[in-house]
Amino acid sequence: MSGTTRDLTEASSTVDTSSFGDRRHLLTVSDLERPEIEQLLELTDTFVEVSNRAIPKVPALRGRTVVTLFFEDSTRTRLSFETAAKRLSADTMSFAVSSSSVNKGESVRDTIETIEAMGIDAVVVRHKSSGVPAQIAGWTNAAVINAGDGWHQHPTQALLDAYTLRSHLGSLDGVRISIVGDVKHSRVARSDIEVFTKLGAEVTLVAPPTLLPPSTAPWDVRVSHDFDSVVGSTDVCYLLRMQRERMTEALVPTLREYTAHYGLTSARADRLPDGALIMHPGPMNRGVEIAGEVADRPNAVITEQVANGVAVRMAVLFLVLGPGRASGAKNEISSNGAG
Ligand code: NCD
Repeated sequence: MSGTTRDLTEASSTVDTSSFGDRRHLLTVSDLERPEIEQLLELTDTFVEVSNRAIPKVPALRGRTVVTLFFEDSTRTRLSFETAAKRLSADTMSFAVSSSSVNKGESVRDTIETIEAMGIDAVVVRHKSSGVPAQIAGWTNAAVINAGDGWHQHPTQALLDAYTLRSHLGSLDGVRISIVGDVKHSRVARSDIEVFTKLGAEVTLVAPPTLLPPSTAPWDVRVSHDFDSVVGSTDVCYLLRMQRERMTEALVPTLREYTAHYGLTSARADRLPDGALIMHPGPMNRGVEIAGEVADRPNAVITEQVANGVAVRMAVLFLVLGPGRASGAKNEISSNGAG
């Protein structure tokens, strides 16, 4: 689509969305190339501007319905997608597994077919198993956005992280990023590594061998087991939560020992170069991977990551559902101005 954001805002009237091609889903970052990522980050600027207005709302997706289908816990990702959809004037439906017929044994496929029968345009999916969003994409005509699947991918987290870095540093080219902690169980790490390296960053994974995947060979990264030797030459320190809910065995002797070797303690944070940024996808375990005091320092951009998440998700929803992406009947209605 060589579309514009014409109906978005009078102020920022032309944003080229052409290199996003005919992408209907966002399932992984693996098939996004640098120009597509950069275009999405540019489009996000427009939605940051919208989000800063007194009335942060545009009619871009009026008449569209976005469903959040979360089979796994979430605070920020789910609220962020719902806020993004509302700011674009889409209708939203929210599906919580804990109060749904999934608890009566309904399958994912039957759940999707039921929701689709009500008329939906996009479904935002989180599931504890890798590959479920891709499977769902084969079962529905709606656009599918992966909001985290198992250890596999969390595409919008990586895009919002890249956006946050770009807003501070201008570019990621040559930026030294350390991703510290439980890489093995982290879909955030898998998506971040791909997006950061595609944008030119130098990524180092810092973790004990037990918290790394069996092979890091497919990635263009360095690996260190010694946080202290890396911290002084890190421009961005990205902490990961210990994903204890995904661990089936004890991979670190004790949390105290983990913190002693791999936590961003106050002493380690003091050794970061001036201007280094501290990031975390949330939810944080203060006192484990990051000292409580460090998370509140001015160079910690953790709440900015959350704020940027809304704008990035507006850009993603706009790209998969925006002008030119409408399905038949709805397209007609909205082009008559009655949507
Ligand atoms: C992460 C997730 O669920 O993958 N959180 C998030 O979406 N911001 C990371 C985590 O749970 O540790």
